[in-house]
Amino acid sequence: MATNNSPNESGSNKLHDWQGPLLVLSIVIVAVCSINLKFFRVEPQKVCDPINDTADHCAAQQFKYGTLGGEVAVGIPFRIFTVLPKVFGVDGYEAFGFRYELECDKDACSGDHCDEKKPCRKRRDLPVGFSKSRMGYERVTVNCALCHVTSYRLPDEQASRLFIGGPAHTVDIQAFLEFLNRVAHSNQHDDEILEAIEGLGWLDRVIYKWRLIPRTRAKLRAQAKRFAWIHDGEPSNWGPGRSDPINRIKAEVIGIKKDDSAGQTDFPDIWSLGQRRDRAIFWGGEMRSIDGALIDHALAIGAPPGPETVQRLKDIRDLMSVRQPPRYPKKIAINQNAVAKGRKLFRDYCAKCHGWNGKHSGGIVPINVIGTDSSRFNAWSEQHADAMNSAIIGLGIEREPMVKTKGYVAPALHGLWLRAPYLHNGSVPTLWDLLTPPEDRPRRFIKGIDILDLKNVGFLAPECDPKDERGYCFDTEERGNGKGGHDYGTSLPDEEKRQLIEYLKTL
Ligand code: HEC
Ligand code: HEC
Repeated sequence: MATNNSPNESGSNKLHDWQGPLLVLSIVIVAVCSINLKFFRVEPQKVCDPINDTADHCAAQQFKYGTLGGEVAVGIPFRIFTVLPKVFGVDGYEAFGFRYELECDKDACSGDHCDEKKPCRKRRDLPVGFSKSRMGYERVTVNCALCHVTSYRLPDEQASRLFIGGPAHTVDIQAFLEFLNRVAHSNQHDDEILEAIEGLGWLDRVIYKWRLIPRTRAKLRAQAKRFAWIHDGEPSNWGPGRSDPINRIKAEVIGIKKDDSAGQTDFPDIWSLGQRRDRAIFWGGEMRSIDGALIDHALAIGAPPGPETVQRLKDIRDLMSVRQPPRYPKKIAINQNAVAKGRKLFRDYCAKCHGWNGKHSGGIVPINVIGTDSSRFNAWSEQHADAMNSAIIGLGIEREPMVKTKGYVAPALHGLWLRAPYLHNGSVPTLWDLLTPPEDRPRRFIKGIDILDLKNVGFLAPECDPKDERGYCFDTEERGNGKGGHDYGTSLPDEEKRQLIEYLKTL
């Protein structure tokens, strides 16, 4: 009950009639501004220093850490993303084969500019292939580099080197999706997530607790639903370095229930895209234009259709049109005499399908001729191609139609030493194994170790052993993993195989 002593009623404290509404209005304005700042403030992303860094460095940073604009559709708050492994008992994102680079630690460098040799470098806060940009709060999305940046080490090295455009052979997308699935369906950890995020003020705590954590879960649930096709029918194991874009297109774009096909393929290299202009794209050659492949990939990772995405893809195409694979490490001697002999063997046995001007290079070799695993080939039909083309037209996107072909593309072999394991399904660990008759190729081997195998050329891939906890055990007897076919060069004498391999190192 109001008394005479109540401040609102008593003399000097009494508000004028117009002051009340003004106060409310001010509170509303402050609230709207803070909400606007917290949720909608957009800051241009900065992945390099355009004044001091070279254009090439900036393009590379953009490829590895730049956004493709998927923040609204699929972005996860950065601060939630970084604590998830700890809360869900995973040993960092490295557990999925993700790679972290070092960057300049400005605090430790005390104003000095950082260079490669200075010790003042720290691990970046996100792995390669993840972008962070501010839209109100900082949000994380993935980009092309998640699957199209490779890494390797020489046997005596600790740190890996990264190369744009090579296949990310350690990255296990399926394990990562399973992890996000687990996060999506467990709401018992909300408080732990909140506690794990350091340095939140009270307002942020409220926002994270009541808004961002539940919203992230809802987003992850929606994503898990979109990827539910992975578990339909007889599931396939991808392991590191592979995914199944063909079945994803079928489920998400065409909207058909998953059949029992296994379409998993290795991430291909995307070097020298300019030289592939008129060639068939994708392992089965279903796509006829690079731009078409880029658009489909960008949509698949949440980029919104529109002029900004088109510009970003143009930048990527320009970068990858000229990016060449790196040369075989200088530290490792190459036997030039053997290279000369190997070059001749290549001309005799391989060039018609793999030389830049070979009669069948970049063309389709029919499935019954090449004889490699047919699961990926069977996963796509003419009906699928028609349905996909109609769906794309329905989205208002113009691009070359997809087709059904008769087999697999004979790819150019540049940067081959960094492209193991080999064939479209990654079923053959080294070049030596590829030149071994199919029945004698390794049956089960460990995949995902990024140490080069200098003798056989590829990555170290020891036989699976339950005691060896590195990598992933790849079983060539699982569906879609067959190691058969492509027996070219397998009957050469061992000495000639070594000469051929010596030459292949130089591509
Ligand atoms: C989740 C992993 C993943 C991401 C992310 C990804 N790709 Fe790919 N990419 C693949 C796979 C797998 C293939 C092979 C598909 C097939 O043939 O079945 C491929 C094929 C390609 C090809 C065709 C190469 C060839 O020789 O046929 C190009 C070009 C390409 N990707 C570019 C991109 C670009 C640009 C982005 C970003 C907008 C991107 N990719 C994002 C996995 C990925
Ligand atoms: C008749 C055409 C043809 C001939 C001849 C041929 N290849 Fe191939 N090669 C292909 C096709 C097609 C593929 C893709 C097959 C697949 O992925 O299932 C391929 C794939 C490869 C790959 C795997 C590339 C990757 O990125 O995984 C290597 C390595 C290779 N060939 C090396 C050779 C060598 C070395 C020779 C000669 C001894 C040779 N090929 C002869 C058609 C041919």
